Amino acid sequence: MIIAIDGYSSCGKSTIARDLAMHLHYVYIDTGAMYRAVTYFCLQNSIIKQGVIDEQKLKSSIDSIHIEFKLNSQAVQETFLNNVCVEKEIRGLEVSEHVSMVSKLAFVRHTLVQAQREYGVSGNIVMDGRDIGTVVFPHADYKFFITASVQVRAQRRYDELIAKGEDVDFNAIVENIVSRDLHDTSRKESPLIQAPDAIVLDTSLMNKKEQLEWILNHIKIK
Ligand code: DC
Repeated sequence: MIIAIDGYSSCGKSTIARDLAMHLHYVYIDTGAMYRAVTYFCLQNSIIKQGVIDEQKLKSSIDSIHIEFKLNSQAVQETFLNNVCVEKEIRGLEVSEHVSMVSKLAFVRHTLVQAQREYGVSGNIVMDGRDIGTVVFPHADYKFFITASVQVRAQRRYDELIAKGEDVDFNAIVENIVSRDLHDTSRKESPLIQAPDAIVLDTSLMNKKEQLEWILNHIKIK
């Protein structure tokens, strides 16, 4: 069984997907973390310098980028880049501000989509991203499209980063969300669009428990 969860940045997709996977005892794959890890690799290896990406350099290094997900001692999934845990680094504003220039590249998307499809081979997964129900698994058993207002999404991201001890500016987060929405929906390669057969969930006025119940209910009805 493959459950695809797509939607805008910071609308709670990852939390819903993780909770759902845990509830159903499925594997959870956060594809945003994969694009973030590639972006972090670019920043670390001077492939992105002063806001400019060297596409050729990334192309020649792409095969040396290995991304894995592992559970830590508290059973929380963490992202590893070439055997190093980068979970904290990939969630910061620097990566968020540069990820769109990486995720729009066709060769990056082809490489990551290939890896994402391999996760689906053994079945029973919940995968979240932007193109899961449209490109990665167009025949997914269930497709959900998550949305929420920009204000609510920015507040959630702000609270999350503050809780992690980061020094962040609320307006910078709003700007980043608006800009990523624009990049995600207008890029040529696999833009964020709602699959015609996806069920829409607006999480603006719902807490985590209500969101999970809502999705489980839909799965039960179908
Ligand atoms: O879900 P997220 O905010 O962690 O994703 C980070 C970025 O990666 C986001 O700006 C869009 C991009 N992304 C994508 O293009 N395709 C995906 N399947 C997942 C994320």
